[in-house]
Amino acid sequence: MTYSNLTIDVSERIATLTVSRPDKLNALDGQTMDELERAIGELEARTDVGGIIVTGAGRAFVAGADISELARQSPAEALERARKGQRIFSRFEESAKPVLAAVNGFALGGGCELAMACHMRIASDAARFGQPEVKLGLLPGYGGTQRLPRLVGTGRALALLLSGDMIDAQEALRIGLVDRVVPGESLLAEARALMGRILQNAPLALSQCIAAVLRGRDLPLWEALELEARAFGWLAGTEDAAEGTRAFLEKRTARFKGK
Ligand code: COA
Repeated sequence: MTYSNLTIDVSERIATLTVSRPDKLNALDGQTMDELERAIGELEARTDVGGIIVTGAGRAFVAGADISELARQSPAEALERARKGQRIFSRFEESAKPVLAAVNGFALGGGCELAMACHMRIASDAARFGQPEVKLGLLPGYGGTQRLPRLVGTGRALALLLSGDMIDAQEALRIGLVDRVVPGESLLAEARALMGRILQNAPLALSQCIAAVLRGRDLPLWEALELEARAFGWLAGTEDAAEGTRAFLEKRTARFKGK
């Protein structure tokens, strides 16, 4: 597939999806959002892809939704924009393949929301995060008011949402918005190394972990634990669980097939 505002590079089962509109700090206009939706569909379907790294070209990860489009939307169009953006970012979150944000620079507004819709986040020490929508008279519409408090807690989320302040990578690490901070020059190598370790594990176990965490998050604990037990039971019937446990006992590396 061809894209104008994204690039996709696949090697060693890791797809690197780079949002690439650097002259506009990778701001998400309608076309870029449509391309993100196509891209996640393509990467989910590709059998040569086991995991996905999302990053940005140039000095930004993504500096938000494209403000020139936000400036001329009607309320009805804004409602549809939010629903569509939420649907597209949920495709990333609900992907059965692990998705890692490698945040190289500004992750503002929709950029911070895109990073939060990924399963994990590594940041460059040059990264900056924020939800500045209130400065525009708006609020985050692509999941920010919901995913931010789930990640960092209500008080810290509201402090960011209400102030519109930008925070640096160390502060993002301190509040739990990112999992790790690394020097900018090693960001992609670190992201690939982590994804490489993840992809050594059984693919069905990875997708069941993702589903258990996401589906269980909003359930009562007893129901979520039952979900976990069922996934555990189901995985025990897979060829890979037989191979993984046998390989441990035989003191050798497991050869997983995703079956
Ligand atoms: N939408 C549209 N264009 C954007 C954009 C956005 N969210 N963010 C940056 N751009 C554009 C700028 O308009 C500028 O374009 P131009 O060169 O044609 O004028 C270009 O990207 C470079 O940005 P600039 O503001 O000149 O860079 P800077 O280093 O001075 O500032 C930021 C960087 C990120 C602080 C600043 O661009 C910014 O505040 N962006 C908006 C962030 C935001 O509010 N996002 C939430 C949107 S809901």
